[in-house]
Amino acid sequence: MVADRTGDNFFNFRFPEKEGFLYGFNLYALVSGNDVLLFDSAFRTQVTKVKKHLASEGLKLTHVVLTHFHNDHAAGLVSLKGDLTVLGSPEYRKTLKKNIPQTVTPVSFQSGYTFGDFKLGFTAAPGHSPCSIFIDINGRYLHAGDNLMGRYDGTAILPWVEFDQLENHISSLKMLRAMGRDRVLLSHGPELSGRKNINRAIDDRLSYLETVLDTGGKCSFEEAVSGCSCSFTGKEFFHDLLSR
Ligand SMILES: [Fe+2]
Repeated sequence: MVADRTGDNFFNFRFPEKEGFLYGFNLYALVSGNDVLLFDSAFRTQVTKVKKHLASEGLKLTHVVLTHFHNDHAAGLVSLKGDLTVLGSPEYRKTLKKNIPQTVTPVSFQSGYTFGDFKLGFTAAPGHSPCSIFIDINGRYLHAGDNLMGRYDGTAILPWVEFDQLENHISSLKMLRAMGRDRVLLSHGPELSGRKNINRAIDDRLSYLETVLDTGGKCSFEEAVSGCSCSFTGKEFFHDLLSR
């Protein structure tokens, strides 16, 4: 794990892919006094390392905000205490598979959430999962969860989505594009920065998803990605999409 502390109050914990795995993890955290708010827990292995690192700096994990509740984002909650404040989409029950010891507090899309000097804003972004959300952090960063995914080195990963959620995923990506953000955080892969770069990353996903939708899934992988400027890894997600 690489732990970067940017400024005084912002952490980026990076976990490269384990051998044979498609993706690693990027976990971000905010600090207020001695308290820490973490975005996503990942699995037990990752969150345990994060906790240990925080403890070594005299800090305590008090909050976890979930971008969505797939296991690779939420399973680590099982190893954390019940008194932790856990926040996520009001739709979390549709996705959460684990019995977690915490109570999930649904986020408010109207009023957001304040953590020390940080003001978080939430927007529903269904598609990748019914409970996916965009999280605005002080108007500076936009955490897009798995709406866009990359490998540790930044290689684009094909979107993961079920066929009946294609339209939702497309709508959420169009909404993200319309937000016009300059710094987008991902749960897998490095931060995307620069409007042009971000738009290109979104457009590549849109081209793929719209081709699959428009052809009713009757296209080859090569046809599905023919309009994309990047070369995607994660071809298995194309087969997952068509087999459901
Ligand atoms: Fe994920």
